[in-house]
Amino acid sequence: MGVKILAIETSCDETSAAVVADGVEVLSNIISSQVDVHRKFGGVVPEVASRKHLELINHVIKEALDQAGLDFGDLDAVAVTHGPGLVGALLVGVAAAKAVAFALDVPLIAVNHLEGHIYANFLVRPDLPFPLICLVVSGGHTDLVLVLHHGDYRLLGSTRDDAAGEAFDKVARVLELGYPGGPAIERLAREGNEEAIDFPRAYLDGLDFSFSGLKTAVLQYLHRCRQRGEEVNLADVAASFQKAVVDVLVDKTMEAARNYNCPTIILAGGVAANGRLRAALASRACQEGREVFYPPPVFCTDNAAMIGCAAYYKYLRGDLAPLTLNAVPGLPL
Ligand code: KG4
Ligand code: ZN
Repeated sequence: MGVKILAIETSCDETSAAVVADGVEVLSNIISSQVDVHRKFGGVVPEVASRKHLELINHVIKEALDQAGLDFGDLDAVAVTHGPGLVGALLVGVAAAKAVAFALDVPLIAVNHLEGHIYANFLVRPDLPFPLICLVVSGGHTDLVLVLHHGDYRLLGSTRDDAAGEAFDKVARVLELGYPGGPAIERLAREGNEEAIDFPRAYLDGLDFSFSGLKTAVLQYLHRCRQRGEEVNLADVAASFQKAVVDVLVDKTMEAARNYNCPTIILAGGVAANGRLRAALASRACQEGREVFYPPPVFCTDNAAMIGCAAYYKYLRGDLAPLTLNAVPGLPL
């Protein structure tokens, strides 16, 4: 076994620690989700998330080492997400990682959360050919990124308002499907007709996205039906909404791949776990002679293994962080 990195991820509502060897071998990937705690509030409550991370972090790190069959002394480096995310949540992971790195006298590696999502792909396919177009779709981001090489990114477009995952979560809330909304909408959509309602698609100039108009259109549709006393088929609403999101994501991603002449497209972030998006992108790419790769769902949503993979390439480049590292909630890619 080569370089063994302990990775820590606490940017939102998942307390996660993993041990990854050489950026590809996931020796452990412990994810303690706080979803049940936040569900009753209908979304993540930042202060509650920080307190939960504090309660869980030491146990999760210990569990990650135990499952990997390693002691602290076996580690070559410690990696942590230092942004973007909730500042109080990030601080718990950053403080824990600094303490371990200082105590063991091993390098500390700071990883951008979005970079982590992108690297979930390299965790499974380290030989992906550059340049790549990556669609990063999560609760906080909808970004099209040109990945020229390890650590070399160009942001091509992003959302001007809601992120794709945020749109799923907000629409799920009005449909009373609970939190998190993405998986709930995907499940319900399987029973619906995605052609039933013609929700608007926002095609902005260039490679930017906008999803707030679609969210409003869903709200107005429900309001209109209720005013007229018409029965609403929630499965049709879920399926038609999901189709509207997927259509725009796929069209813009293909446009980016054409513009930058990229034969390979990768998906990243929680919404990349969506089966409808995966299938639509794969089929469109196939028609255009391009290849699509996406990580297994467990590496799409927040997890520390993806952070351990991104950290490995930084370790190889000697891109290390000082022990004065701080959390940066608005960290750009
Ligand atoms: O990457 P992630 O775990 O956390 C952030 O960095 O935001 O993404 C969470 C987001 C949530 O908005 C959630 O509703 C969405 O990903 N999501 C999905 C699916 N699974 C998670 N959206 C659509 N379909 C899914 N299957
Ligand atoms: Zn994330």
